[in-house]
Amino acid sequence: MTQSEDQKGASGKLWGGRFSAQTNPTVERFSASVHFDRALARYDIRGSIAHARMLGAQNLIPAADVDSLVGGLEAVAQEIEEGSFSFDPALEDIHMNIEARLRERIGPVAGRLHTGRSRNDQVATDLALYLRDACLSARQGILDLRQVLAERAAEHIDTVLPGYTHLQRAQPVRLAHHWLAFIEVLGRDAERFADASTRLVACPLGSGAIAGSTLPLDRAATAHALGFERPTRNSMDTVSSRDVAVEIMSAAAICMINLSRLSEELVIWSSTEFGFVELADAYSTGSSLMPQKKNPDVPELVRGKSGRSIGNLVSLMTTLKGLPLTYNRDMQEDKEPLFDSMATLADSLEVMAGTVATLQVNTAQMALAAADPMLLATDLAEVLVVEGVPFREAHEAVGQIVAHCVGGGHDLGTLDHATLRGFHEAFPAGAPELLDIERSFEARSLIGGTAKRSVLSALDEIRQALDSEAQALESASREDR
Ligand code: ARG
Repeated sequence: MTQSEDQKGASGKLWGGRFSAQTNPTVERFSASVHFDRALARYDIRGSIAHARMLGAQNLIPAADVDSLVGGLEAVAQEIEEGSFSFDPALEDIHMNIEARLRERIGPVAGRLHTGRSRNDQVATDLALYLRDACLSARQGILDLRQVLAERAAEHIDTVLPGYTHLQRAQPVRLAHHWLAFIEVLGRDAERFADASTRLVACPLGSGAIAGSTLPLDRAATAHALGFERPTRNSMDTVSSRDVAVEIMSAAAICMINLSRLSEELVIWSSTEFGFVELADAYSTGSSLMPQKKNPDVPELVRGKSGRSIGNLVSLMTTLKGLPLTYNRDMQEDKEPLFDSMATLADSLEVMAGTVATLQVNTAQMALAAADPMLLATDLAEVLVVEGVPFREAHEAVGQIVAHCVGGGHDLGTLDHATLRGFHEAFPAGAPELLDIERSFEARSLIGGTAKRSVLSALDEIRQALDSEAQALESASREDR
């Protein structure tokens, strides 16, 4: 490195001697990314410290310089943490902002840091570290919401409501059973993040710009220092792939879709027409015009933001689809949608947990809706099945009974044996007594059913699953520290 290059300060570009003119100001603004990739700062510095130590251990730079580099990088990290670091868009991205500041602090020795490294393997490393953390935070947020749902489910084992298909009353279910359904859904969401993390075990550092380095870098050492299992196997793949980011954004979008469905339900349930729940004041908003309004803005926003999460995913997929190997600057467009998706998910999970934790259940209103005797029509058909009647025939007979009730204003729940026999002779004497909501529940005692026994054992299993996820997350974040 020449003296004149070394003397370039924070405002001087690091492109080196090839360039003789300043960058056009619009181009400078157009290509700058530091206003968003500053989110990678701490990963960038972690990667640089590991890289500097490896360079020292390989005798590529003097030991004393390693100390200056590490000390300087730690001081820069501190400045960023405290908010005193001034980010300069003229320096384009977070990598060059940090390096320039390092040079201001420790002088020309800063010029040794980028030995055997390119911003291409550097940004890939930063992203892998970021994504590892992002998967853990997403799993934690999901776990928190699942825990809240499990607590609320435990409170409402005996609360009944109609289960719906086509938003039409279908069969009575326990509220616990209903919320356990979302706990299952969210469990798969968490698994997607855990699974994606298994593809973040290889360290990009040492891949250079595209084809590695002529220098004797110790790739395994930086990999281990940064908590990876091994170095990546192919330098060209390493600097040009963002598929794991796509995968994680896809997991985020799927989770947002699921939250959106839970939200939609809360919007419906909190309407006057349903009146099943009332959202807490802290999780609702009013109308600026209509004094009586209490609006479910939180679930509505979660529902709305799911669209943005899907959009982010599509945006990155579209950016990547036409790119030849290897690195192309288009790839800088990965970060804003990625960061936005992860932040949106984290916020949505948190507000949903708060919403569910604080909402009030109107058990009487739910019970009233569930007391609709029509919900027992399937049970009645199954009574005939037990008597040996083919299900289709039973379905037809009960259909006629339902039509009779609807047409004549009769109550399905209070038909006597003689009336039932008028529709099918196989109805046993005890059939009318079987038309009871409690019995209906308890008869659904298969695994996965809504009988008390089934729900309690599902809840039990879920609690164990939540405990082991909590332990897994605790040990993962301990390793990461
Ligand atoms: N800011 C760039 C990005 O996010 C870093 C890598 C730049 N590499 C390059 N060859 N220009 O992708």
